[in-house]
Amino acid sequence: MRVLVTGGAGYIGSHTVLALLRAGYSVVVVDNLSNSRVESLQRVAALAGRQPDFVRADITDKAALEAVFRRYPDVSAVLHFAGLKAVGESVAQPLAYYRNNVVGTMVLCEVMQAHGVQRMVFSSSATVYGDAKTVPVPESEPLKPTNPYGHTKRVIEELLADVQQANPGWRVGILRYFNPVGADESGQIGEDPQGVPNNLMPYITQVAVGRLESLQVFGDDYPTIDGTGVRDYIHVSDLAAGHLAALRALEQVEGVRAWNLGTGQGYSVLELVAAFERVTGKKIPYTVVGRRAGDVATSYADVTRASGELGWSAQLGLDRMVSDAWRWQRTNPDGYDKG
Ligand code: NAD
Ligand code: WQD
Repeated sequence: MRVLVTGGAGYIGSHTVLALLRAGYSVVVVDNLSNSRVESLQRVAALAGRQPDFVRADITDKAALEAVFRRYPDVSAVLHFAGLKAVGESVAQPLAYYRNNVVGTMVLCEVMQAHGVQRMVFSSSATVYGDAKTVPVPESEPLKPTNPYGHTKRVIEELLADVQQANPGWRVGILRYFNPVGADESGQIGEDPQGVPNNLMPYITQVAVGRLESLQVFGDDYPTIDGTGVRDYIHVSDLAAGHLAALRALEQVEGVRAWNLGTGQGYSVLELVAAFERVTGKKIPYTVVGRRAGDVATSYADVTRASGELGWSAQLGLDRMVSDAWRWQRTNPDGYDKG
């Protein structure tokens, strides 16, 4: 079975391509390399002992996508990772986010529809819940994102539901990831953010490797165990496995179905720092600064639905997330550039 993976050269996509190849799927990746390097896929190929096909193209480019679907008539499902994901940037450049994420998905759906491909697994985000009233957050929580990036994810979820409603043959899995971290245990592929990382784990690993001086902890006056923000960190290899489970579930599940992918367990910023120091023996100097605009105190997933319907649950705990993130950073201090 061939799967088309948009954004497959990126952080989560590359780990999922590895899992797909290992499970025997044929893969074609479509990526414009706006936030990734093709080297990630070369490393995936070396790890898997099999090559994914790669087409450099932008998903907003209909002619280019048409050509891909013509060239690969055996594609039977799409894993759709391609998108822009920086919350702050989305506030400054909303149109770029709507074009890339929403228009890109529209074009992708049009081309899939024209070629009779009706299975999709879409990368949504816990960001669609905004400041959720219920924690752990169930999938039934109202979608109230608080920034343009989150709005694009909600709009895409609605767009996919409308497409499926009009075309009952479609089956769509919506995966709402919580906080993906870590790297493949080989240390060969991992997260390679451009510029200063926005997210906590790559910031910590860059402090540990000497690229950044010290961590700023955004607020210690939240109503949490130690005052710092609590999140549901999930190992990227567990996430990758969740995609394969969702793909298999679409054989049975009709319509559109959303699943949270998290561990169901929350850790504070300082707990993550402490785990990193304990596991790696590296000291992470930090200072506490004010809260970051838009942050919530606590967010972690209710994972009952994914475990019941996908037969999937996260297997790797915080220590593995930390040690694998560190192995990747330590052996590739400058990411794919000079790794
Ligand atoms: P990433 O930036 O590493 O990967 C996204 C990939 O999509 C990149 O390789 C990029 O080059 C490609 N891309 C972007 N726009 C494209 C376009 N128009 N055409 C073709 N390719 C394009 O990000 P990631 O962390 O791997 O995230 C993958 C998906 O998961 C994204 O949709 C993101 O919004 C979502 N997500 C990520 C997180 C997270 O914290 N990393 C959390 C929840 C959801
Ligand atoms: C985690 C915790 C921060 C950096 C974001 C997106 C979300 C999703 C995942 C894509 C928070 C604190 C962080 C730092 C810190 N991405 N922190 N110092 O904000 O939960 O989620 O990534 O869909 O949409 O919003 O993740 O890693 O940025 O922050 O103290 O330098 O670490 O305040 O409590 P977040 P994060």
